[in-house]
Amino acid sequence: MSRRAVIQSVGHGLPVRIVTNKELILEKGIESDDEWIQQRTGIQQRHICTGDEGAYSLAIEAGREALERSGLKPTDIEMVIVGTVSGDYIWPSTACFVQNALGLKMAGAFDVSAACAGFIYSLANATALIETGVIEHALVIGVDALSKQVDWSDRATCILFGDAAAAVVVSAVEGGDRGVIKTVMLADGAGAPFISIDLGGTKYPPNSVAPEGMKYGIQMMGNEVYRFAIKAMGDACEKVLAEAGVDASEVDLFIPHQANMRIIRAAAERFKFPSEKVFVNVHKYGNTSGGSIPLALYEASDSGRLKPGMLVLTVGFGAGLVWGANLIRW
Ligand code: UT7
Repeated sequence: MSRRAVIQSVGHGLPVRIVTNKELILEKGIESDDEWIQQRTGIQQRHICTGDEGAYSLAIEAGREALERSGLKPTDIEMVIVGTVSGDYIWPSTACFVQNALGLKMAGAFDVSAACAGFIYSLANATALIETGVIEHALVIGVDALSKQVDWSDRATCILFGDAAAAVVVSAVEGGDRGVIKTVMLADGAGAPFISIDLGGTKYPPNSVAPEGMKYGIQMMGNEVYRFAIKAMGDACEKVLAEAGVDASEVDLFIPHQANMRIIRAAAERFKFPSEKVFVNVHKYGNTSGGSIPLALYEASDSGRLKPGMLVLTVGFGAGLVWGANLIRW
C-alpha cells in the first residue's frame, strides 16, 4: 500500500491594510498610473504590512489557522517548513519562530529559500519526509513581506508586490489516491542577476559602504524575468504532467504563481486550460511571492472551487532563478 502526503487543511494570514494602485502611487510618489499597472500586470490592490506585521506574524496566523482546522494537536506536528525570502530576521529561520509561537514541541523547523517557488519546494520537502516515513505530519507555510524589501524608486518593480502568508497541514495517509502525486523542481543560477537583492548580505554587509551604482532593495530586469517566466511555467507543467502520465485535459484546477495576469494567461494558453479551470487572484493581492500559491489554494478551497478528489496543478517561478510544479489530488 502506498504512503501519500495529503493536504488536510489550509490557513492564511494577511496584513490588515489594503492599498489600491492609486493610493500606492500617491503615498510613495511613484510616477505611474492605475491604468498602466492594471493593463501590464492585472493588479488592482495589494495588502501591505503596517506596525508590527511582518513575515513572522503572518506565518504564525496562517499556521495557527491551518493547525486548528486540521484537528491535530500541536505536538502531532513533526516538521515546520517555511518557504520565504523575507524573514523578519536574517537568522534564525522564520520556521523556528512559528514552531515556538504555536507550541510545536515535537517539531523540527527550517526555511526554504526559493523565492516565489518557495511553497512548491517546501511542499516537495514535506512530501519526501512523509513518503519515506521520517515524519507523519508537517506544517508547510509560504510567506513573504516584499513590501519591506522593494526599492520604492523603481516604478517597474515596486508596484508588483504585496504581503501574505498561507499554510497547509500535510499528513501521511496509507492508500487512496489523494495527495501530492508528483513534483518537479528546477533552477538556473545563471539567471541570478535578473532578480536579486544585492546589498545587506555578507558580500556587502549593511554596515559597509555600498559600491557605486548598487542600490538597496529588490533589483529586477522585468523583461528578462517575464521571458523566463513564460517558458519556465510551461516547461515545469509539461514535465510534471509527463512524469505523472497525466494529460493536461485531466487537470481540474490550474493554480499558477500570481505574478502577472499576462504571464498567467500565457501559461494557461499553452495547455488550453479554459478560464474556469484557471485560478486568479493577482488583482486582489499582487505578487505575494512565497505566499502566492498557498493563498490561492486557500481561497480556491474555501470558496468551494477546489473540492476533494480534484486534480490540481500548481506552478511557480522566481529569483534564483528557480521554478517548479506540484501535481496534487486534492
Ligand atoms: O515572481 C517573480 C517576480 N517578477 C515578475 O514576475 C516580473 C515579470 N515581469 C513583468 O511582469 C513585466 O516585465 C513588468 C510588469 C515588470 C513590466 O512590464 P513590461 O510590459 O515588460 O514593461 P517594460 O518594462 O517593457 O516597460 C514599458 C514602459 C517603459 O517606458 P518606455 O521605455 O517604453 O518609455 C517603462 O519605463 O513602461 C514604463 N514603466 C511604467 N510606466 C508607468 C515601467 N513601469 C511603469 C509604471 N508605470 N509602474
